[in-house]
Amino acid sequence: MNDPFSRLQTLRAAALDVRDPTVCDEALSLLLELAKGAERILEIGAAECLTSIALHLATGAEVTAIERDPVRAQRARENIAAFGAERGVRLLEGDAGEILPCLEGTFDLIFLDGPKAQYRRYFADCKRLLRKKGVLVSDDVLFLGREKEKVPKKRRMLFEHIGEYLALLEGDPDFETQIIEIGEGLAVSRKLS
Ligand SMILES: C[S@@+](CC[C@H](N)C(=O)[O-])C[C@H]1O[C@@H](n2cnc3c(N)ncnc32)[C@H](O)[C@@H]1O
Repeated sequence: MNDPFSRLQTLRAAALDVRDPTVCDEALSLLLELAKGAERILEIGAAECLTSIALHLATGAEVTAIERDPVRAQRARENIAAFGAERGVRLLEGDAGEILPCLEGTFDLIFLDGPKAQYRRYFADCKRLLRKKGVLVSDDVLFLGREKEKVPKKRRMLFEHIGEYLALLEGDPDFETQIIEIGEGLAVSRKLS
């Protein structure tokens, strides 16, 4: 149980148990695979930083994590300290919409897992911040399914936001996008140029 991955897995299981948001095991495995060789990673909507910490421990990459909720950000700071990852995971507490335009440099992998209605708004910064051949992973793109008629009326606006985001991604000639049906749907977009 001293192995940091086992400790992290226990925290992830506890978070999933109380329905605190964190990615499912399959989505984490895919992220770890995509992160191989990465030196700089960005997570937007990091909650308690359990995914950021896993990405850092697995790759040694420097991870920048953005989280707006102060209670989750505090837990994230405690988790980062508990794993001795202060030098590898940098938490930026605040609204991603305000923080993203201020970030500089490029990232090898960006994990977009913040507010779904804002994905479209964040896209230009994600594109700017992603290096050529880098990968943008957008989470939960199928969480309302694929058929508008089956979506409750009060969620249709969000369904449309996600649909417009996917159309933007899939129509961008600078990206090659695949939708993967694990968890609540992941869009994996490689930047071609
Ligand atoms: C699905 S959870 C993230 C789970 C996390 N990526 C993980 O794998 O453990 C979404 C997170 O986005 C955060 N969030 C919502 N709106 C935000 C915003 N405008 N800026 C930054 N974070 C935001 C929420 O507080 C929440 O913790």
